[in-house]
Amino acid sequence: MVIMKNTNGNFQRILVTGGAGFIGSHFIRLLLNERPSSEVINLDLLTYAGNLENLKDAESNPKYKFIKGDIGNRELTTQILSEVDAVVNFAAESHVDRSILGPEAFIQTNIVGTQRLLDVSKQNKVKRFLQVSTDEVYGSLGAEGAFTEDTPLAPNSPYSASKAAADLLCRAYHHTFALDVVITRCSNNYGPNQFPEKLIPLMISNARSDKPLPVYGDGLNVRDWIHVEDHCRGILAVLENGQSGEVYNIGSNNEWPNIQIVKKILNELKKPESLIKFVADRPGHDRRYAINSSKMKNQLNWEPKIDFSEGLHKTIDWYLKNDAWLRRVTSGEYLKYYETQYSNR
Ligand code: NAD
Ligand code: TYD
Repeated sequence: MVIMKNTNGNFQRILVTGGAGFIGSHFIRLLLNERPSSEVINLDLLTYAGNLENLKDAESNPKYKFIKGDIGNRELTTQILSEVDAVVNFAAESHVDRSILGPEAFIQTNIVGTQRLLDVSKQNKVKRFLQVSTDEVYGSLGAEGAFTEDTPLAPNSPYSASKAAADLLCRAYHHTFALDVVITRCSNNYGPNQFPEKLIPLMISNARSDKPLPVYGDGLNVRDWIHVEDHCRGILAVLENGQSGEVYNIGSNNEWPNIQIVKKILNELKKPESLIKFVADRPGHDRRYAINSSKMKNQLNWEPKIDFSEGLHKTIDWYLKNDAWLRRVTSGEYLKYYETQYSNR
């Protein structure tokens, strides 16, 4: 086994963008716990998906600082990056269905925002830039095989196209300007604090209030699920020990057709399967994702630790115990989105 050591080692001041969202908030918690001498700045625009409640426990930590702002605001990031040695870029519009309803915001944040952040990172001689990407940039698989880091990019949704464009900009900043860039591409995440527009929290939220569970198409699309904490440990490994210019796939070898996930959730909540409602398919719906993460294992000694049944059980439990969180995020803008997305379908 080769563990590649990066000369950067640990970083003293890390800018995490999008840290008020689902995965970013777990990553900040991991950093504060595991790297207590590092300072962490969270830059987040607080869109509908950003929620400072996700990091309530970090607020009093003197090593943590929150700044509200846009990754595309050069003036702001120039100030912040003059004092930072690594950037971990989570900030993004992240939901495929929203990218179908309105792609513009995805272009603005995921592509233009990332390019500006790369540019300011280059100007400030940031030591490392980690781009948090997705397996969706590889497109859709047939019944066999899994994405490797060498699979050609073939994104199919405005979301995945915008993430692929950002990956290519990262590659270009590495090759042209010698910026130290690493890219992670992870499969579907689940866990506490995920916004209930994504499959697992949406189904938990609807099932517990006896609302229909909208399953797209035949329900046989396959996703490869990983617990958010396993993903975050993978990102930290790449940040500290990944090789500059390289891409790392992160996944858990855990493929499930959507309908089986939905049935598992109903079963856990002791709700009837009659709540399942097959609805019109998502346009351009990718059939199957599966990720080969052997490079993470072989080169960085990283492996997922959380068993899916246990992780799902605890996630459901978290949503049951955090009813107030769920109620707050499913009011206002969410209700309008839900109506546009699911009525007449
Ligand atoms: P999320 O939607 O929960 O959070 C995104 C965060 O980014 C929010 O806090 C939002 O306020 C912030 N943000 C949006 N636009 C911004 C801007 N212009 N400037 C600053 N902040 C901004 O998303 P997530 O699920 O936590 O995903 C985080 C990252 O991981 C994304 O880049 C996504 O593409 C990637 N990813 C997600 C998954 C998944 O399953 N959720 C899987 C692989 C990769
Ligand atoms: P999602 O959580 O949106 O993640 P992604 O599209 O990025 O993989 O969806 C996961 C799968 O669940 C995907 O195949 C679409 C499907 N899905 C439904 O069937 N119904 C829903 O209401 C949602 C949100 C998703």
